[in-house]
Amino acid sequence: MIKNCLPFLLLILIFSCTPTPSEDSSNRDNADPQIETQIDALLKNMTLEEKIGQTALRGTSSRVKGSLPEELKEAVRNGQIGAFLNVMKPEYVDELQRIAVEESPNGIPLIFARDVIHGFKTIFPIPLGLTASWEPEQARIAARSSAKEATQVGVRWTFAPMVDICRDSRWGRIAESPGEDPYLASLFSAAYIHGFQGDSLSQPDAMAACVKHFAAYGAAIGGRDYNSAEMHESQLRNFYLPPFEAAFEAKAATVMTSFNDLNGVPASANPFLLKDILRGEYSFDGFVVSDWNSVTEMIPHGFAKDKKEAARLSMNGGMEMEMTSDAYELNLLELIKTGRVSERDLDEAVRNILRIKIRLGLFDQPYRATTTAPNYYAEEDMQAARVAAEKSAVLLENNNLLPLSSKSKIALIGPLADQPHEQLGTWTFDGEKEMTKTVKAAFEENDINFDFAEGLEFSRSNSKKGFAKAIRIAKDADVIVFVGGEEAILSGEAHSRGDIRMPGAQEALLNELSKTGKPIVLVLMAGRPLDIEDIKSHADAILMMWHPGTMGGPALCNLLYGQSSPEGRLPVTWPKDAGQLPLYYNHNNTGRPADSSSFVQMNDIPVGAWQSSLGNNSHYLDFGFTPAYPFGYGLTYTSFNYSDLIIEKDELKRTDTLMLSVMLENTGSYEGVETVQLYIQDRFASSVRPVKELKAFRKVSLEKGAQKRIRFELPVSELSFIGHDIQAILEAGDFYVWLGANATEGIRGSFKLVD
Ligand code: NOJ
Repeated sequence: MIKNCLPFLLLILIFSCTPTPSEDSSNRDNADPQIETQIDALLKNMTLEEKIGQTALRGTSSRVKGSLPEELKEAVRNGQIGAFLNVMKPEYVDELQRIAVEESPNGIPLIFARDVIHGFKTIFPIPLGLTASWEPEQARIAARSSAKEATQVGVRWTFAPMVDICRDSRWGRIAESPGEDPYLASLFSAAYIHGFQGDSLSQPDAMAACVKHFAAYGAAIGGRDYNSAEMHESQLRNFYLPPFEAAFEAKAATVMTSFNDLNGVPASANPFLLKDILRGEYSFDGFVVSDWNSVTEMIPHGFAKDKKEAARLSMNGGMEMEMTSDAYELNLLELIKTGRVSERDLDEAVRNILRIKIRLGLFDQPYRATTTAPNYYAEEDMQAARVAAEKSAVLLENNNLLPLSSKSKIALIGPLADQPHEQLGTWTFDGEKEMTKTVKAAFEENDINFDFAEGLEFSRSNSKKGFAKAIRIAKDADVIVFVGGEEAILSGEAHSRGDIRMPGAQEALLNELSKTGKPIVLVLMAGRPLDIEDIKSHADAILMMWHPGTMGGPALCNLLYGQSSPEGRLPVTWPKDAGQLPLYYNHNNTGRPADSSSFVQMNDIPVGAWQSSLGNNSHYLDFGFTPAYPFGYGLTYTSFNYSDLIIEKDELKRTDTLMLSVMLENTGSYEGVETVQLYIQDRFASSVRPVKELKAFRKVSLEKGAQKRIRFELPVSELSFIGHDIQAILEAGDFYVWLGANATEGIRGSFKLVD
């Protein structure tokens, strides 16, 4: 009996191992027939080996010395490489491109890639900082400047923007993220794409963007890099995917898979993400690249037993270009010949890659447009970087100390006051410290009356040998400006921290300085919100500069002296302690919402207390339930008052637009910018909805004493969400709406959505 079944079983086995060539998974809705014909002709002439070559993204160290290795040139000559990353010598770029175009079988040009994230030479604030500007235009400007500079050395493809939603400040890559809110992140995502890609990809100063990391990398468990992401699909779609969708709407040319597995399936071999969503739903017609070695890392990940299996799973899963590892290079030929990967899928991958090469204009102009000396640090870029750093700064506290009087004598202290490299932040391979203006340099340039003592040589230093000098100059000054936080290397990829306080002896130094009785401005430079609970009472003003980039010093100087006013708002919830993480404003409620009236702090529980559930709600006994500063928070030098919320109609239909307004008054003594934020809550729904969701905001500049009615119009359709059954729904019922200064303040009104 069993014997008789064998041929049949074998047949089943063969069929279950054979990929179903995706029925036309291609998306040619926006196809340009001329481009597709050019691709058809190329594909017709290419051997299987050459097609596989197009899927290879080879890394070379930017520090390669001497001449290019012969074997590398030979591989290009044979059409075995489609793209390079990190080739940073223009003469190497030119030589490799010449070989590809003139000597390889079909003359297909290479693309040169680099992580150009928040500036190439002129460095702008880290992406989390840029998002704090709540001004997507700042991201567009930063990306445009990056592209103008990087394309001069032949880099036409950047691995940016990273649009991973992040709710955990322990994760080192929060520095590179657009924060925790899908709406704000989506606006920034689109702005980066427009900036990198310019008006047309074929312009010589345009770079193909690579939106990353698809998907849910920011949800790494415990903020530990590369960790798994586990979530219901509705969660993925409501929070993590919108910034990607925005990038594709803005025509992002490429997308990078993430290192993590999503619900058990690594993103680099995940047909649900790469085929169903990317091609099926988003009609993406660019190409997919893996992250660095993420294809072969599926072996230690426990998903593929060897490189061959990894190659099969990735190609069948919709992953097209392999970054650095060689699973495709070594195995695709055999996998295709034995029918375990279909040539049609490979053709589709190569088609997508060639389409972007053609759109970049590389077939017409494969070489760098600039052969003259590169023009970096143009005055307009330096000023744009300064403005971006000013707009990114978030004033967390100000006890009438800022802006400073020019008459005050300053003691400038701290391990980051004069560290050009550190203020550039993560992912700045090409930024140069020689061109970076520190706070000390800016003070000197502006003739500020100050003495300087670093106090600590670097942010992690525990040596107290610099304390005495710091205390001495503090005693002799009117105001202490302390610039501390984290060195650049403490955030970014693989740089997660479990304790997010200021490292080293910085807190100890601040304790000593506070004993002088002099007012302290605490300036933070860091890649993440920090736990400053133990020292915040020592400071009369606290200004978060993130890692502010090349022009961080002049930007801070302008802010301190009121040449500009802080207008940044937090793009993430700022925790009191890492123990509260993950922490985010747009969480669901529990049936027992945290509540200050019933909260009992741990130390107030009587010794020997009888077993009970105490406050009976969702909180920590020690940290409570509120953050240090909420999402959307930030002060400025003036103050604003909100009054008279008007909701024009309190019953709305699905096709209506919610129209509402509030009176905003500048009640302080300076002109200032307020970011008026609109939040909603869908109070009762078939899936529990977040306690608040940002739906719109407006930055408004008001003279002192001025008042203005600020109006919003929100189409009711924007209240829809993805329900448990993965359908977009817009349910009738009661809504709250707030207009206010951040996620915990605001004037609340209500309306009803009716059928
Ligand atoms: C790994 C990172 O995760 C990714 O974001 C980056 O673009 C690549 N390395 C290339 O450097």
